[in-house]
Amino acid sequence: MSGRFTAPPSTPYCLIVDDEPALRQVLVHLMRRDGFTCLEAGDGEEALVALERHDVSLVLSDLRMPKLDGLALLTQIRRRWPDTAVVVITAVADVEVAVRALAAGAMDYLTKPFHLEEIRARVAQALEKRRLVLDNRGYQRRLQEQVTVQARRLEELFLASVQSLAEALEVKDPYTRGHSVRVSHYAVLIAREMGLSGELLRRIELGGHVHDIGKIGVREDVLNKPGKLTNEEYQHIMTHPVVGWKILAPLLGDMPEALNIVRSHHERFDGRGIPDRLVGAEIPLEARIAAAADCFDAMTSDRPYRPALSSADAIAEIVRCAGTQFDPAVVDALLRSVEGGRFPLLERRDEIMAV
Ligand SMILES: [Fe+2]
Repeated sequence: MSGRFTAPPSTPYCLIVDDEPALRQVLVHLMRRDGFTCLEAGDGEEALVALERHDVSLVLSDLRMPKLDGLALLTQIRRRWPDTAVVVITAVADVEVAVRALAAGAMDYLTKPFHLEEIRARVAQALEKRRLVLDNRGYQRRLQEQVTVQARRLEELFLASVQSLAEALEVKDPYTRGHSVRVSHYAVLIAREMGLSGELLRRIELGGHVHDIGKIGVREDVLNKPGKLTNEEYQHIMTHPVVGWKILAPLLGDMPEALNIVRSHHERFDGRGIPDRLVGAEIPLEARIAAAADCFDAMTSDRPYRPALSSADAIAEIVRCAGTQFDPAVVDALLRSVEGGRFPLLERRDEIMAV
């Protein structure tokens, strides 16, 4: 093997570690000619000092040295400066040790006595290997960044499509707009009070935003009817949890909690709700939370057929229905939030609209 190695233009550092000064000089001379800035160390400990001070690309290290020997030095270099290429130097009799050094992460090994052209070729190879490793790592990092960007774009696209659905419903049912935003906000407050956090809160927030999306499938004359609904009309309007669930199931597959809110926010704790007549803990917690948030907002909103209740009256009604319509634990959390001043009451409702 022969061929002259040309160092990159930025004159990289090469550290030469050997306890024999004469041998170091030979290598220094050679590596300087190939464009390296050379550092010298007489043992492993001196080598560590040099490595701490300089950004070293290549280490040529003897294996038998006083204090810290070549293998121990190699181990530290691999751990602390994994991007530094190490070529070990050994006497012919040390081939077994050289093999151990390769196993410990040395790029190559050179045997004494040196053949200068061979050193050049081996060094060139070691640095080429190092360059490939670094390039590959950079490539993987860029790939990972691209994946992250794409995932974010996908999520934005997904949220935009859900938002479009929500807007379609708002056109049809003006009441829904503020209602969904407020229910979402109330549900998150109650959930937080119950110790829920992180991604789950985000899903509850989304579930609140879209919980009534199934009303897209409800006739407008029924949706906006000012008077009392007939039984048939009531049955029709109450298809919305299942209709919404069917619309969103393909979109919200990996957000089951949001989907649960859509399907189960009209379940009752005593099992007399719709659509599945689930009882107590059978109802997903996020849906039990959304049920209380939904009813609180419905009661404190003006509707064509009745004026809004005060916050105090609405809360009293929710407390009265703890254990029948609502999960008592959810009602407790709502009360704690109110008592702690964390739950926005009717007079502050405009603030939530701006959220
Ligand atoms: Fe609903």
